[in-house]
Amino acid sequence: MKDAQPSTVYLKDYRVPDYLVDSTHLHFELQPKATLVKSQLKIRRNPDAGEGLPPLLLDGVELELLSVSIDGQLVPASRYRELPEGLSIPVDKPAFVLEIHNRINPEDNTSLEGLYLSNGMYCTQCEAEGFRKITYYPDRPDVMSKFTTTIVAPRQYPVLLSNGNEIERGATEDGRQFVTWEDPFAKPAYLFALVGGDLQHVEDSYTTSSGRKVKLQIFTEAKNIGKCDHAMRSLKKAMRWDEAVYGREYDLDIFMVVAVDHFNMGAMENKGLNIFNSACVLASPETATDSSFQRIESIVGHEYFHNWSGNRVTCRDWFQLSLKEGFTVFRDAEFSADMNSRAVKRIEDVSMLRTAQFAEDAGPMSHPVRPDSYMEISNFYTLTVYEKGAEVVRMIHTLLGTEGFRKGSDLYFERHDGQAVTCEDFVVAMEDANGVDLTQFRRWYSQAGTPVLEVTDAYDEVNGNYALTVKQSCPPTPGQEEKLPFHIPLAIGLLGADGGDLPLDTSGTRQVVLQVTEAEQTFNFSGLLEKPLPSLLRGFSAPVKVRYGYSTEQLLFLMRNDADEFNRWDAGQRLAFMALEQLQQAYRREETLKLQPQLVEAYRSVLQNRDLDPALVAKMLALPSEQTLAEEAEKIDAEAIIAARRFARAALAEALKGDLLACYQRLHTDKPYSPEAADIAERSLKNACLAYLCVTEEDDALALAQVQFDSAANMTDSAAALSALVNHGDTASADAALESFYQRWQQDTQVVELWFGLQSSSAKRGTLENVRALMQHPAFELKNPNKVRAVIGGFANRNFTQFHRVDGSGFKFVAEQTIALDKLNPQIAARLVLPITRWKKYGGDLGEKMKTALQSVMDSGKLSADLYEVVSKSLV
Ligand code: PHE
Ligand code: ZN
Repeated sequence: MKDAQPSTVYLKDYRVPDYLVDSTHLHFELQPKATLVKSQLKIRRNPDAGEGLPPLLLDGVELELLSVSIDGQLVPASRYRELPEGLSIPVDKPAFVLEIHNRINPEDNTSLEGLYLSNGMYCTQCEAEGFRKITYYPDRPDVMSKFTTTIVAPRQYPVLLSNGNEIERGATEDGRQFVTWEDPFAKPAYLFALVGGDLQHVEDSYTTSSGRKVKLQIFTEAKNIGKCDHAMRSLKKAMRWDEAVYGREYDLDIFMVVAVDHFNMGAMENKGLNIFNSACVLASPETATDSSFQRIESIVGHEYFHNWSGNRVTCRDWFQLSLKEGFTVFRDAEFSADMNSRAVKRIEDVSMLRTAQFAEDAGPMSHPVRPDSYMEISNFYTLTVYEKGAEVVRMIHTLLGTEGFRKGSDLYFERHDGQAVTCEDFVVAMEDANGVDLTQFRRWYSQAGTPVLEVTDAYDEVNGNYALTVKQSCPPTPGQEEKLPFHIPLAIGLLGADGGDLPLDTSGTRQVVLQVTEAEQTFNFSGLLEKPLPSLLRGFSAPVKVRYGYSTEQLLFLMRNDADEFNRWDAGQRLAFMALEQLQQAYRREETLKLQPQLVEAYRSVLQNRDLDPALVAKMLALPSEQTLAEEAEKIDAEAIIAARRFARAALAEALKGDLLACYQRLHTDKPYSPEAADIAERSLKNACLAYLCVTEEDDALALAQVQFDSAANMTDSAAALSALVNHGDTASADAALESFYQRWQQDTQVVELWFGLQSSSAKRGTLENVRALMQHPAFELKNPNKVRAVIGGFANRNFTQFHRVDGSGFKFVAEQTIALDKLNPQIAARLVLPITRWKKYGGDLGEKMKTALQSVMDSGKLSADLYEVVSKSLV
C-alpha cells in the first residue's frame, strides 16, 4: 500500500529504458521470514536512449536493502537514494556490474505477488510488476536479460526450480543444498519464476517435429500426484497443435508445470516453468467435472502457447498486454475448438463475452483493448484485453483467411523473435505479409465500447435485387465521447424459403464477409428469385451487437435451418430473449405470466432432434442468464428479470417434462467415464435435462437426482445431481446431500471449492446468512483467492437473486469483504468489488443502495492503489 495517492501512467509517455541489463545472476537463500536475495546485474547504457548518464532508477517495493556495490566497490548509502518505490543510483560509466543484497519476507506476503509461501511451498508470481517485490530491478518488459538463478534451501525443500536448464547442484558447507538454473533466452523479469518445496512430480516426454526430445514434468504436493494425467495429455496435444497450426516448436530441453493452491489468477507462463493455480491443472474423473477438464485443457494450452506469443516475442510495455493475451486467447480458443466441438466452444466464449465483457465495456472501467492509461496495471487483466482482444485477432483471421493469417503470424514471429514489441507491430506484420491496409481496423485497439449494428433490408421482386443496409454506432465510454466507424467483418448468409443458403453471386458463393467500414452502408445482392431471410454475424464474426427486426416466425426458421450452428443457437437466444422481455413487462404490469407457445414448441423440437450434437442441444435449451438479460437492459430491473426467468424455466420444464425424461433416460447409461468430447456432450445434455426436470419440484424428478447422486461414479454426474438437490426439493434432502458430499471429499481442496461454490451461488441456498456461515467453515480461508472466489465471488457474481436483495444487504456484504481483503490481497479486493461498481445501470433505490455500499469502501480509510483506481473511477 502506498502513501501518496496512486498516480496515472500514460501510454503517450512511453520512453525506451535508459539502461539495459545484459545478464542477471540471482542468488536466493530461502527462509520463511527472511529470504536473502543477492542480485548481480551486468548493466549498460542504452544507446537508443540519448546522451549522458542519467541516474539508474530501479523498481523495488517492500524490500529491505542491505547493500549496493558497483564493480565490486561498496556504494555508501549516502550516494544512492531510496525512493518510495525504488532506488536511484548515480552512474559515472556506460557499463558496470551492479550487485544488490536485500531481504524479503515470503511468509507474510499475502498479496501473492513476488515470492510467497503457499502451503509451505515457496513460489513466485512476477507478472506484471511482482519482480520488484523480490529485488531492485528495472521491472519493465522491454528490459530483457539472460537469467542465472541459484537457490539455496534447507533439506525440507528438496525440489528447487527456476527457469531454463539445471546446470549445477550440490550441498553448502552448513548442510543446505543448492541448485543453479540457467535460462538461455533473454527475458523480461515478469517471466522469472522460482519454486521451492517438498513436491512430487509426474514425468513424460515429447519429441518435437524436428526430433528434439523434451522432458515434461508436472509438480504437485504428494496427495495430488494422481491428478496430473489430464494436464500432461493436454500439454502434449498443445505442443503438437502449435507445430501443426503455427509451425512453432518448443525451444528448451525441459518444460515444467507446478500446481499451487494460493494463486491470484489461472496460471502463469514463466519461461520453461509455468505456475498454475491448482484448480486449473489438477483433475481426475472422480473429483473434477467435465467443464474443469475442458478448462484445464484450454489453460494448459494457453500457457504453453505463450512460449511463442508472449515469451519469444513479448510486450514492449503493459499497454500492449493484449498483444500477448488477445493473441494467446485466440490461439487457445482455436486449440479447444479443434479438440472439442467448435460450435459449442464458440457459443461458450461468446456468451461470456456478451454478458461480462459487454458489461465491462458499458461500465465505469471501460477501456480500449490497448488502454491509454492506468493507475495499477493489475486492474487491466480484463475481459476486454483478453477476450475482446482475442476477438480482434479473430477478425484479422477472418479478414485474411487461414493462409493469410499464417503468413502474417510467421512474419511476426520471425521479425520480432527476441524482441519486446507493440500491438502496432503485430498489425504491421499482418499487413506486410498480405499486402493489405488495416489502417481503419486499428480503431479496434484504440476505441472502447461495444459497437451496435442496425440492419434493415429491402427486396425488389421485380428485378430480384436485395439491399442490406447497415448502420453502425458506438456508445460513448469514459474519455471517449465520439467514435469513428470501425472496420467490421460481417459474415452473412441469405436463407431461401427451403431453408438453404441462396447463392449470393454468379459463382454460387453462399456465405460472404461484408466489409462494413462506413457509418451507414448498403450492400446489394442481385439475381435473387425470392425474398431472403438474412443470417447475420455468422459465427459471431465481430464483437458487436446486431439489431434486426426479426419476427418470431423468422427466428424459429433460423433456429431450424441456419447452416451456421452458432446462429441457430443465437436465433434461439433471441427468441427466448423476446419472450423474457414480454414476461418482464407483464410482471411489471402485474399481469398473469404466460410463455409463448412457439418457444415451448421450438425447445421441444430441439430436444427431439437426434441429428444435432447433444452439447449443442444442451446449449440451445438454456435460457439466457440473468446476467445476460441485465446486460441487454436499458436499466436493470433485477426483480422483473428474476421473476421472468424463473417463470419461463418452470413453464418450459412443465411443458417438456415428458421429452426431458425420455432424453435423460436415453443418455443415462452406465458407460464408463471418459473426458472425450462426445461423452462430455452426452453428459451435458443429460444433466441439463435433469436440472430442468427438477425445476418441476416433482418427487419423481427429485428421486432421479437422488439416485444419480448416490450412484455417480464421476464428479460431473455427482455435482449435477447435488446441484439439483440443493436448488430444488426439500431442505432436509439438500442438507443431507451436502453433508455426505463434504464428508466424502473434505480432503480434496478442489472438490471443497466446488462444494462452496454450489452453495454460495444458489438462489435458494446462498442466502447472506448461509454465505456468512460458509466463511466460518474450517475449510474457508480469506487468504486463499480460490476460496474467496468460491464463496464470496459465487455470491456476488453467480447468485443474481440473493445478491440483488432489495434491502441492499448483498451489496453491503460485498463492500465489507472488499475492505477486509484489501489489507491482505489488493488484486483480489479490486476484482471482488466490481459487481457493486455498475450502480448507474440500476434504476432507483437499488442503484442508490449499491452506490452507498461502494462509497463506504471509499470512505473506509487508506485503500490500495488497485482498489482505489476501481472505486474512484466508478464513483464519478
Ligand atoms: N499471464 C497470465 C496468463 O494469462 C495471467 C496472469 C497475470 C497470471 C498476472 C498471474 C498474474 O496466462
Ligand atoms: Zn495469458
